[in-house]
Amino acid sequence: MGTKKQQTRGLFITLEGVEGSGKSTQICHLEEVLTQAGHRVLQTREPGGTATAEAIRHILLTAASHEPVTPQAEALLILAARCQHVTHLIMPALKRGSVVLCDRFFDSTFAYQGFGRGLDLQWLRAANEVATGGLTPDLTIVLDLPVLVGLARRRADRGQQNRLDRETERFHRKVRRGFLALAAEAPGRMTIVNANRPAQEVRDELTEIVVGWLARPRRPPRRRS
Ligand code: TMP
Repeated sequence: MGTKKQQTRGLFITLEGVEGSGKSTQICHLEEVLTQAGHRVLQTREPGGTATAEAIRHILLTAASHEPVTPQAEALLILAARCQHVTHLIMPALKRGSVVLCDRFFDSTFAYQGFGRGLDLQWLRAANEVATGGLTPDLTIVLDLPVLVGLARRRADRGQQNRLDRETERFHRKVRRGFLALAAEAPGRMTIVNANRPAQEVRDELTEIVVGWLARPRRPPRRRS
């Protein structure tokens, strides 16, 4: 693909999961824990994170139903947003030595556009490689819960519903299966956490995983200088 892996000093952690899995709440908590431990932390999200990528997010989540976004256009828009995000926000932060906490990254593309929409995974992986320059998270946590529980949480919060939330239950089941299959393929990078329990319990397990992982000898905690 002509892309090469880039060297960075920072750490790249991503949170993934189906709708209503509580990622956004948990990522804020992780930011707090890591900041208190002395890390320089950047919290961001996908699609989004930069002005251009946020504009693409707006198109993706609000596109009018009279002109349905095709699965291919959806994937290409997400990848374009990712390219901007990686280039202008994530890589500079990693090069500065920050811990980057990202709410969704490429596993969402494989789960939603691959497993959910049925796009070819090999094509998605190749296109993603172009968008990211080969950047792969160091650690990915998948917050897993039954689709109906997550959708009920989102529906209870009507203001939060977007174009993808309104997809069929069948679609979301395929997405969930996708995340679980991806995690099974990458056990060294991806960890599944049961999110179908009180937020405090999920929070404690996440903290334990991330703090434990940062303390591993090959990944010494990075302190502010
Ligand atoms: P959010 O609701 O977690 O903020 O995510 C926005 C929506 O974008 C969510 O429905 C999942 C979707 N999405 C994809 O379909 N593919 C992707 O690659 C990403 C990052 C998000």
